[in-house]
Amino acid sequence: MKTELYQKRLTPTATTRIVKPAAYFILLLLTYTVGYLSAPSSTSQPQLTSAVTVTNPSPPSSPGDQIPGSFRVTTSCADPIPSELVRQTLLDRLFNGSSPFQDFPPEHAAKLLRPTRVKGWGSNGAVFENLIRRVNPRTIVEVGTFLGASALHMAELTRKLGLQTQIICVDDFRGWPMFLDRFKNLPMVNGDVLLFYQFMQNVVSLNKTGSIIPVPFSSGSALTMLCQMGVLADLVEIDAGHDFLSAWTDINRGHRILRPGGVLFGHDYFTAADNRGVRRAVDLFARVNGLKVRVDGQHWVMDS
Ligand SMILES: C[S@@+](CC[C@H](N)C(=O)[O-])C[C@H]1O[C@@H](n2cnc3c(N)ncnc32)[C@H](O)[C@@H]1O
Ligand SMILES: *[C@@H]1O[C@H](CO)[C@@H](O)[C@H](O)[C@H]1NC(C)=O
Ligand SMILES: *[C@@H]1O[C@H](CO)[C@@H](O)[C@H](O)[C@H]1NC(C)=O
Repeated sequence: MKTELYQKRLTPTATTRIVKPAAYFILLLLTYTVGYLSAPSSTSQPQLTSAVTVTNPSPPSSPGDQIPGSFRVTTSCADPIPSELVRQTLLDRLFNGSSPFQDFPPEHAAKLLRPTRVKGWGSNGAVFENLIRRVNPRTIVEVGTFLGASALHMAELTRKLGLQTQIICVDDFRGWPMFLDRFKNLPMVNGDVLLFYQFMQNVVSLNKTGSIIPVPFSSGSALTMLCQMGVLADLVEIDAGHDFLSAWTDINRGHRILRPGGVLFGHDYFTAADNRGVRRAVDLFARVNGLKVRVDGQHWVMDS
């Protein structure tokens, strides 16, 4: 109330006085964000730091001085744990030591689920087999799983190749606002679309409960947690939010949990969705970090 009255009384001159430094502040914030997010880890220097300094328009005594401190990455990654401990570590830390597939499905959901209901996008592309054959991954992190199409495909590939691979599926299992417009006959219970349960059911029906671990949280918190727990991956697939900012943060956080020699890859480099931001985020990340982007079908691939 007080603020509103105050703002109404502002003269145009007073407004300009506030808006101009604010514009500088926002510009500085943006430049710094790019520098911060592009840092591969908390210990190495953001590679755009020098550019930030050069383009910083704020005079020394401005509030901008506090920004570098504010943007510190305070989470650090633990020493990597061995691949064979990854599954049990995640079950212990996320699910109190037992498999989330135990006693699945719960009674209230069972009658609403189909035995299998798998729908994906480019989920069987050749890129999966190409990379799995090349890298022989022990740990795969998938960021964006939906009903599990690509994860189940990878689980089958690793089984056929005789690999002992764990596939960690990071997804909040919320889809996206209005996604039911395209999935009209998914059941809804009090506003919840049971995406998580249907994904779990698919994994159970296709007998992949031993190689798939759901991590049902937002990509940001989940990837940060994996790093803090020392869970690194040989392959990281990015296929969650397809706008620039989502792709940018997922790529940055995904790159942080790659094992040396690991490969980061993702969907929608060359599809109708590409210019929503994925391709721009991939290209910027590669440029900032001096990496090469290869294209495999609809997917982009970046070796570490
Ligand atoms: C295109 S779908 C993934 C498709 C899957 N890779 C396949 O090929 O079958 C994108 C998924 O990302 C998830 N998602 C989007 N933004 C997310 C976020 N910030 N955190 C976690 N999951 C997210 C959505 O819930 C959705 O299931
Ligand atoms: C977690 O596991 C412990 C020991 O197995 C058990 O006593 C406890 O009730 C469990 N907690 C939850 C939330 O299930
Ligand atoms: C399910 O998968 C496990 C592990 O890959 C395998 O040992 C078992 O034979 C499979 N069962 C069926 C019914 O396919």
